[in-house]
Amino acid sequence: MVYHFDEEISRRGTHSIKWEFLFPNGRPQYGDHADPKYGRERILPMWVADMDFQGPPEMIEALVQRARHGIFGYSLAGDSYYEAVLGWMARRYGRSVPREWLVITPGVVPAINMLIQALVQPGEKVLVQRPVYYPFFAAIENNGAQIVSNSLVLENGRYRMDFDDLATKTADPTVTMAILCSPHNPVGRVWTPEELEQFGHICRANNVLIISDEIHCDLIYDGHTFTPFDRVSPDFAANSIICTAPSKTFNIAGLKTSNLIIPQAEWRHRLARVMARHGLLGSNAFGLVATEAAYNHGEAWLTAVMAYIQANYRFMADYLATHLPQLRPIPPEGTYLVWVDCRALGLDAAARKELFMGQARVFLDEGELFGPEGEGFERFNIACPRAILVEALERIKTAVAQLAIGHKNPETS
Ligand SMILES: Cc1ncc(COP(=O)(O)O)c(C=O)c1O
Repeated sequence: MVYHFDEEISRRGTHSIKWEFLFPNGRPQYGDHADPKYGRERILPMWVADMDFQGPPEMIEALVQRARHGIFGYSLAGDSYYEAVLGWMARRYGRSVPREWLVITPGVVPAINMLIQALVQPGEKVLVQRPVYYPFFAAIENNGAQIVSNSLVLENGRYRMDFDDLATKTADPTVTMAILCSPHNPVGRVWTPEELEQFGHICRANNVLIISDEIHCDLIYDGHTFTPFDRVSPDFAANSIICTAPSKTFNIAGLKTSNLIIPQAEWRHRLARVMARHGLLGSNAFGLVATEAAYNHGEAWLTAVMAYIQANYRFMADYLATHLPQLRPIPPEGTYLVWVDCRALGLDAAARKELFMGQARVFLDEGELFGPEGEGFERFNIACPRAILVEALERIKTAVAQLAIGHKNPETS
C-alpha cells in the first residue's frame, strides 16, 4: 500500500484547533484571516499534538461505512471493540489484560482529571517530571491537589530521571500519586526497563500510586523499544493505572476515545462513581469504530508513518546543524514531537514568540509552558508533510538571520 504523507491536505473548515487556532474561549487568537489560503504568510502550526496526515485507509473506510448507516444513537463498546483493543495490547506489548480491567474514557486528559478526583484527597500532592505535558498541571491543581516536580536532568544532550530527588520527594507522605509520562512528552525519551524499574520501586516503597500515561507508546523510533510499565513486574501491574489510546497513533484525537487499564476493583469503582457524577455513560460512536478498525488493520500504516516521521526528523536535524546551529534538537526516541534547545539565541520567552510567531510565522509550543525547566526551549510537532517542515525551517532561518543583523545594527531594527 502506498501512503501519501507528502500530500498537503487543507484542514481549514474542519474545526481544527491546530490549523484554525481555536482556543477554548472560541476566539481565534492567531487566525490568518488576511490570507487564509496558502499565502506565503500563512502561519505554519507546529504546536498541538496531532498529525497533518490522513489515518489508515481501512479505518477511514470503516468510518465512512458507519456514517452511511446514518443513525448515531447512544453507543457502548461491544465484544468486537474489546477484542481489537486487547488484541493490540497482546500482539504488540505482550500484555494479557482481563477485559474487566479496561475502562473506556473520553480521552486521557479527562481520565487523569477524574483519576485525581477519585483517588487523591484535597491537599495531597501529585508528582510529575517536568518539563512535561502541561495539561497534567491543570489536572492536578483544578482538582484540589498540589504539583511536586521530580524534574528531569539534561545531561550530554539526553534527559534522565533524578532518582535521589525522587526518593526525597516521594518520602513526603502527602505525595500519593505520580504521573509517569512514558514515552515522555516533550523530551522524547523512551524509558528503559531499568529506569522504569527504579522509578516504580521508589514510588512503591513510598506508597505512591503510579499513573503511567502511555499515549505515545506506539510512536517509537528505530533502535528503541517501548516497555509497558505494567510489564516490568507483576507487582507494578497490580499497583498502577495505565492510560492508552489510539488517538496519537492513528491521528484520531478528535474522536475522544481512550482505554485505561485499572487492575484494582476499588479504583475502578471510585472512578466509575466520578464518571457517573459527570453523567458519562457510553462512548463516541465513531471513536469505537475507528479504534477497532485501526487496531485491527492499521499496523502497516503505522510502520509507514513512523518511517516518514523519522525521515522528517533526520531532515530537521541536518538542517539545523547546517543552517541554524543555535537551535539544538534533543534526539527523540519516541513521539512526533521534537524538543529543541534554543537557549543559544539568548532570547526570553516573549522575544522567542516574536521571533517564531511574529517574524517566521511558525507556531510552536514554547518550552516555558512545560514548566520552568523548559525555559529557552521550543517544542516542534513534525508530523506534517515534508514541504511544511522545510518551509518552517527556512522561515526560521531567515528570521534568525534578520535578528543577527538587527543585533549588529540596533538603530535599523
Ligand atoms: C502525554 C499526553 N497525554 C495525553 C494527551 C492527550 O490525551 P487526550 O487527547 O486523550 O485527552 C497528550 C496529547 O498530546 C499527551 O501528549
